[in-house]
Amino acid sequence: MKKLLIALVTLLPTLAFASGGGANLLHAPIDPTDKVSLQNGAKLFMNYCFGCHDTSYQRYNRVAKDLDIPKELMVENLIFTGAKFGELMYNSVDNAQGAKWFGGTPPDLTLVDRARGTDWVYTYLKSFYADPERPFGVNNTLFKDVGMPHVLQDLQGLPTLVEKKDGEGHVISHEIVVDGSGEMNSEEYDIAVRDITNFLNYAGEPSKLERQSLGKWVLGFLFFFFILTIFLKREYWKDVH
Ligand code: HEC
Repeated sequence: MKKLLIALVTLLPTLAFASGGGANLLHAPIDPTDKVSLQNGAKLFMNYCFGCHDTSYQRYNRVAKDLDIPKELMVENLIFTGAKFGELMYNSVDNAQGAKWFGGTPPDLTLVDRARGTDWVYTYLKSFYADPERPFGVNNTLFKDVGMPHVLQDLQGLPTLVEKKDGEGHVISHEIVVDGSGEMNSEEYDIAVRDITNFLNYAGEPSKLERQSLGKWVLGFLFFFFILTIFLKREYWKDVH
């Protein structure tokens, strides 16, 4: 028992570190109850990401229902593969081809939010910068030598990395500066990225809101039951005393 306790105590900091991770992540200002943001996220995702990444653990009809997107709108504007409304969300990229083009298959993103964390996804989408040495002309400060092109460059403009160095040439901080050639200004771009992140957060756990609101009722019921049990106990023990 003692050994087990010691093992547990030594393990705890490791666990905390594993779940904490990445000190330099930006905070993703998402709101999972904001349907407009989720709808915009779904639209941007289907237009800019789904060409390479599936979200094959979710179905179109479930997404439409959860996000209040009418069936006709979904079928006409967000299903590009000819899939049926009730089908799983697979794109039409052949994985072997994907691996050949990008040096790695674009992964399924249904659970990326759970695996990497919401802040990680948000920061990743804001961390691309121009790097002529890379095959697609861009790199990423969070994901070094990433195989993904900067697919939102039309929206953001060309991002450049500006590094601040100390006397010995070590990088102390960096900043990404945009040249203004994008369709969006930086606030609009932040909103677009926030909405995509919000959508991926939803995709990772579609029942979260339902679970949380149900949880309150369950706790309420248990509390009510607890009070009832106290009265019941008093009633029983009255005869014994
Ligand atoms: C042209 C194809 C392509 C498009 C379009 C694309 N990606 Fe990617 N993405 C990739 C590839 C390839 C990788 C794998 C990179 C690697 O392993 O180096 C990747 C990796 C990622 C990762 C990291 C996954 C992980 O856990 O390693 C995230 C997150 C991601 N993409 C999000 C997006 C989002 C959001 C969009 C839309 C805004 C998008 N991608 C559009 C090709 C694409």
